[in-house]
Amino acid sequence: MADQWFETVAFAQQLAKKRLPKPVYAALLAASEKGVTVADNVDAFAELGFAPHVIGALEKRDLATTVMGQDISLPVVISPTGVQAVHPDGEVAVARAAAARGTAMGLSSFASKPIEEVVAANPQLFFQVYWLGGRDAIAARVERARAAGAVGLIVTTDWSFSHGRDWGSPKIPEEMNLRTTVRMMPHGLTRPRWLYQWAKTMRPPNLRVPNQASRGEPGPPFFAAYGEWMGTPPPTWEDIAWLRELWGGPFMLKGVMRVDDAKRAVDAGVSAISVSNHGGNNLDGTPASIRALPAIADAVGDQVEVLLDGGIRRGSDVIKALALGARAVMIGRAYLWGLAANGQAGVENVLDVLRNGIDSALMGLGRSSVHDLVASDILVPPGFTRALGLPAGADD
Ligand SMILES: Cc1cc2nc3c(=O)[nH]c(=O)nc-3n(C[C@H](O)[C@H](O)[C@H](O)COP(=O)(O)O)c2cc1C
Repeated sequence: MADQWFETVAFAQQLAKKRLPKPVYAALLAASEKGVTVADNVDAFAELGFAPHVIGALEKRDLATTVMGQDISLPVVISPTGVQAVHPDGEVAVARAAAARGTAMGLSSFASKPIEEVVAANPQLFFQVYWLGGRDAIAARVERARAAGAVGLIVTTDWSFSHGRDWGSPKIPEEMNLRTTVRMMPHGLTRPRWLYQWAKTMRPPNLRVPNQASRGEPGPPFFAAYGEWMGTPPPTWEDIAWLRELWGGPFMLKGVMRVDDAKRAVDAGVSAISVSNHGGNNLDGTPASIRALPAIADAVGDQVEVLLDGGIRRGSDVIKALALGARAVMIGRAYLWGLAANGQAGVENVLDVLRNGIDSALMGLGRSSVHDLVASDILVPPGFTRALGLPAGADD
């Protein structure tokens, strides 16, 4: 519907806020403690400027690239995000939208839909693993993902469980039963359209995580899986190398912020990393991922694919990340807001907003392809970058 079309990601966010019950919307904003990192992820992009050419772009610009062996039509991939009661079609709607717009998708371990259904909607699917339950349990989940047809693995280890949000964490129920439905009802009633979407399905939001169990099983409740994750000893670099070996295909370590970790990831045999601070959900005070990107791309960009996620809200943000060394970016909140605003069409809308923004920034810079971008296309103010994990003085 025309009234649901939006021109910017900020607009999608406004619609999401209007459409979702307060706690559901709050869950999408989630970040740690004071929110310093989540704010920096977005604000840092505004500190970067452009150096436009007056002549140079061709009539048709080339936005296509490849990530982890997948041809994608724009350098934007769907980042995995956990169980969301944003829309009844959830990850399947996101997968369909990504497929319709020619890009790949990361599916969270904590997704609300079984991987088999999501792969059917988008075969360019990377399954994301948390280090939960030890090697045997992880191997079983990875083999299920392989059998389902996942074409890559993303391992996410950057979580410290330190939320302590100064603005308060939303109350998410353990399970949607009669009692919790009654408790949530006042919020739901303020958002009749959201309520109606769910009423049509005759099912409450699924707060179970089906990909943490065998195929066909409903999976444990989200909070049970979360508890198990908190109780699992964190992985070592040997564990990462073991899983990479077991998987044998395209393999990303997500959440790398330091040059020394990036080098260790290369040694562990990964094929890609995402420079990321989990969208500000890990240690608050970690700098914006875009600040850490240049040093990491410089150190390992010729050995592994370097992606970035965190704070992407516009096509011009994508261009800045690419010019500073990323092969592609991943998006989180942007597509969740699109999903909340208008289901599959809303996610397509977000991808179109980004595509158009990438294309016009390319044109303004006088570049004909995302592969032609260079660091000098971007004005980086003094003191912008953060080279984390280099020996003292090495980045002077
Ligand atoms: C609500 C929410 C849930 C998330 N769940 C996961 C997850 O299950 N697995 C994961 O690897 N990252 C998860 N992330 C992090 C995203 O994949 C991504 O790193 C982050 O959202 C990027 O920042 P952006 O939201 O500013 O684009 C989540 C992020 C949000 C906002």
